[in-house]
Amino acid sequence: MSEPKPVIQKVRGMQDFLPNDSEFVSAIEANARKTFSFYDFKEIRIPVLESSSLFKRAIGETTDIVEKEMFSLTDRGERELCMRPEGTAGVVRSYIENNLGVPQNQKQFDKLFYVGPMFRAERPQAGRYREFNQIGAEYFGDASPSADVEVIKLALSILGRNRIEKPVLKLNSIGCSNCRPGFQKKLIEYLNQKSGDLCKDCQRRMAKNPLRVLDCKTDAGALNDAPKSIDNLCAECRRHHQEVEGELRWARIEPTIDHRLVRGLDYYNRTVFEFYAPNKSGSQDALGAGGRYDYLVEMLGGRATPAVGFAIGLERVMNLMKEMGREPESMEVKRIGTYVAWLGLDTRKPAFQLVEKLRDAGIPSTMSLDEKKLDAQMKAAGRRGMRYCVIIGEDEIKKNKLNLKDLRSGAQMEISDNNLIDHIRSADEQPA
Ligand code: HAM
Repeated sequence: MSEPKPVIQKVRGMQDFLPNDSEFVSAIEANARKTFSFYDFKEIRIPVLESSSLFKRAIGETTDIVEKEMFSLTDRGERELCMRPEGTAGVVRSYIENNLGVPQNQKQFDKLFYVGPMFRAERPQAGRYREFNQIGAEYFGDASPSADVEVIKLALSILGRNRIEKPVLKLNSIGCSNCRPGFQKKLIEYLNQKSGDLCKDCQRRMAKNPLRVLDCKTDAGALNDAPKSIDNLCAECRRHHQEVEGELRWARIEPTIDHRLVRGLDYYNRTVFEFYAPNKSGSQDALGAGGRYDYLVEMLGGRATPAVGFAIGLERVMNLMKEMGREPESMEVKRIGTYVAWLGLDTRKPAFQLVEKLRDAGIPSTMSLDEKKLDAQMKAAGRRGMRYCVIIGEDEIKKNKLNLKDLRSGAQMEISDNNLIDHIRSADEQPA
């Protein structure tokens, strides 16, 4: 026997989704896709690998993501590439490259969504991974406050469909290229007075990216009376912000204005927002986030096009749902999963046929492919998380009846083949 080979482990911060979690996230995704279709958003699939320059230009050279967190590589042609840390920049690149914004295409491709893995070399911890999945949406060509509200409603609807009702919506406006410089000036003056109280990171940030200092969790205490962007908006930005707030209230969504919300990506202007789990608004872990980015299309070489979007962290949604003991809607079909147990070789074929019939009726079903004792089959049904076990024996075939066991309640009954599907389905309508 040769020496056992060393085991190769996954790269730090990357993720294996084993079948249970895989099914869980697929169900969350399925609910999101359904919601996107109600809002008339269409899917775009963009590459994982892009030119590093795309993110440097879009997200900003002095952001944490670009400075410290990019998974970069140089290919054989000495091109600098990186694994996408987020989806917006790639969608905008594709929007420009494929002429999606030209008048004849605009209405067809103005609302796009994506689902997929993103990569950031952050320090792995609970809820923070180096490989994580985002469900994102980008809405192009509409500068109105209603567009901001539309995407916020869409994000809330995706969370709601996944049973995260009433998350906290933090909202702020960081102004535009007219009013932001004035605000930044005031902020720098304030920060200069406070510089002794600020952490090392912020002292460095102060010069390069003063807005980001507001976001610092360590320095929160020292920044209590920092100037607020909202008090320094130009008339147009102020009106925009007020209308966003007003329309959210029409939709019965109560935002929490957070003056320190500035976001970690530089492409935003005006509206920025983040979603938090109810009762966890102080947490660092947003379930999702987004905002308006009216300059990005132009910055990446396209025609000036206003845009707004968001991304939700799939793992964070899953973790929270598990914490709350909830399952995504579409997984519940498993609640009526039915195992078909068969006894004696003559019943193998009818069992096969019954499994097919159940599957065709939308009821998850399976059976043992080789002959096994009833006990072993019942145990397998339990381990697979099935709700029911149908037993087909020679007796049942003679009587033209099936034996149905509810594995949750233990109740057993005889039922005719014709009534089986309706009976199982009716269980799905009862509360879990
Ligand atoms: P972001 O705030 O960087 O925004 O990320 C959005 C969401 O992705 C976060 O709220 C969080 O749920 C999830 N997320 C981010 N980093 C991690 C991580 N390391 N591990 C687990 N989950 C994470 C954006 O990415 C923007 N592109 C959103 C956007 C779209 N803005 C406009 N359009």
